[in-house]
Amino acid sequence: MSAPTKTNGPLASFGREMRTVAQRWRQVWQMISNVHRRALLLGILVMLLNAAATAVFPFWIGGLVDCVQGKQPLSWLSFVPMWATGLDDAYDWKQGRTGHDELAARLPNDLLVRVVLTFLVFVAAAYVLRELSLVARKYLVEGTSTRIEKETAVKLVTHLLKGDLHVLSRERIGALHGRIHRSVEGFVKLLKLGFMDLFPALCVVGSSLVLALTQQPRVGLVMAGVIPVSLVLTIWQMTSQKGIRLQLLRSKEALDGTVVEQLGGIEYIRAANTHAQEADRVAQAAELRRLKAIRHHMAMAWFGCFKALNEGLFHIIVIAYAIYLATIRPPVISLGDVLTFSTLFLSVINPLKEVHRILDEAHESSLQVGDLLDMLNTPVDKSFFLPTLRYPELELGEPMIVTDGLSVEYRTPDGRTKRALDNVSMSIRHGETIGAAGRSGSGKSTWLKVVMRLVHPTAGRVILGGEPLEAASREVIAKLIGYVSQTPFVFAGTIEENIAYGNPGATRDDVIRAAEMACIHDEIMAMPGGYQFHVAERGHNLSGGQRQRLALARAFLKNPPILILDEGTSALDNISERAVQRAIAAARADRTVIMVAHRLSTLRDSDRILVFDEGRIVEQGTYDALLQQGGVFAELVHSAGDLPSGV
Ligand SMILES: Nc1ncnc2c1ncn2[C@@H]1O[C@H](COP(=O)(O)OP(=O)(O)OP(=O)(O)O)[C@@H](O)[C@H]1O
Ligand SMILES: [Mg+2]
Repeated sequence: MSAPTKTNGPLASFGREMRTVAQRWRQVWQMISNVHRRALLLGILVMLLNAAATAVFPFWIGGLVDCVQGKQPLSWLSFVPMWATGLDDAYDWKQGRTGHDELAARLPNDLLVRVVLTFLVFVAAAYVLRELSLVARKYLVEGTSTRIEKETAVKLVTHLLKGDLHVLSRERIGALHGRIHRSVEGFVKLLKLGFMDLFPALCVVGSSLVLALTQQPRVGLVMAGVIPVSLVLTIWQMTSQKGIRLQLLRSKEALDGTVVEQLGGIEYIRAANTHAQEADRVAQAAELRRLKAIRHHMAMAWFGCFKALNEGLFHIIVIAYAIYLATIRPPVISLGDVLTFSTLFLSVINPLKEVHRILDEAHESSLQVGDLLDMLNTPVDKSFFLPTLRYPELELGEPMIVTDGLSVEYRTPDGRTKRALDNVSMSIRHGETIGAAGRSGSGKSTWLKVVMRLVHPTAGRVILGGEPLEAASREVIAKLIGYVSQTPFVFAGTIEENIAYGNPGATRDDVIRAAEMACIHDEIMAMPGGYQFHVAERGHNLSGGQRQRLALARAFLKNPPILILDEGTSALDNISERAVQRAIAAARADRTVIMVAHRLSTLRDSDRILVFDEGRIVEQGTYDALLQQGGVFAELVHSAGDLPSGV
């Protein structure tokens, strides 16, 4: 993997970095809409106006000084204020020693006042124009960037919500959240750096240098001398700091990931009294990050210092050279010109300083844009692609869910595979109530997730309502299946919003009826605010059983033809569970119900129980028949001490 040394030099490395920044910038430009592009291009016009107002400013000050001394300013830029003073009409100019035409006598006082005032009015107008153009630029660029930021964030989150669950589950939530936030920020920043900072700075530097070179090429060349050293320092800075920036970015993500993980498990951390250990984990990561950051900041401070010294040195050289030219016999330039070039040099170096900062920040933002593009390029889950060919048939007694040689392998982050389902073939008829039992990790949840297209089979076929599962769109699956998972999804909002989630047409009465079926209505009424009670994030202010029944109420409200309960009643006490079981029993007549349970007594009323073991279905039959059989199921029942009386 060793690249030729030539391409590893700082120049080549800088070139590569700049090409990446330029490429990212092009990609950012391609991603925004035409309306936004037009607004940003208008911003460039405004910036040109701003650059012009900034560049003429030193000439008018120099011109004023010359006029006060009775010399005609050389620069054509002073033509307009000169014309306004009326000086040209009133006097004849004679060739002077500096090349400036000179008046034979001192200016009378009234004319002097008029000249000074006219020039100052022009200088003031340049000031006003410069500041107004800055406001206009801000309005155009900021207005557009905030809109782009919003649109990009929404686009990214929408994309990620459709992403492959397997890929997403490998990320830590906090790290992913941080990356989403920062990558969108970096995207907009790269755009803003271009339009708010880089273009204006280049315009001002370019126009000031061009004007200096055309007015007095020798002084102009000395002024331009500041650029090469500055460029070398910038290249050095960027190539030496590029790795550190990426490391800082990643370590921040890791820190975010850790903190979000800890906040999620705060109750356990307190119970286990491991907060000191957790704080230590954060402290170590934060200290490593701090050391890296301070090294980076110090390096940046030194680079900044050398650049400023270089600029200061050239400022001194420019002033000295200009004074030399103004004082030799015969003088080449006037004292006004000295002032002009000194001010003009400041117009060059101030934006030049910005150019370094911009290149540096653009480099960091381009890393974040890289993250954004990576995230936008993550594959969309294949269940989003195919439109429904036909709505599955729902005939009671006909096969509803059929799997044939179904296998699923999970890919672990280190690239290895783990088989969770192994050649599973089974058939469920519509209207059946199916129990699923088996040891923990035997593949029950994976099997259900395949049916809901949350996990995709590695081999085998699944038929849903007579149609291949691949032909079922997310809409169809959502309509067909009500799902209560092992870890119910409860979000921050009211109880009513939580129950009505996914059922936009539901009325208050529907919600109450569903809550009654799930045996949670009375408890809701006892909460402050009843159905308007505010549920905390992830349902932290509810009990485990309440969360589960909330999810059950949601499933009952949806009233789907297939009801899947993965440990859907495991957190309930026996009395509540029996009540919920009765509600499920009442609802099972015209629908398919699949229940996974470790408390095997809840499966006694199932038409059939599928017994999973190491990713296979090893037994199936009614509760009593399986118990008689004396196999895996009987062993599970016996070991749980869950035997019904009399067996
Ligand atoms: N996202 C995943 N990545 C890798 N392996 C996984 C993933 N999800 C599950 N597994 C593995 O697949 C196997 C089956 O898991 P599954 O969740 O289907 O078991 P289960 O029968 O539902 O267990 P439980 O009764 O504990 O809920 C387990 O060994 C588990 O470690
Ligand atoms: Mg499970």
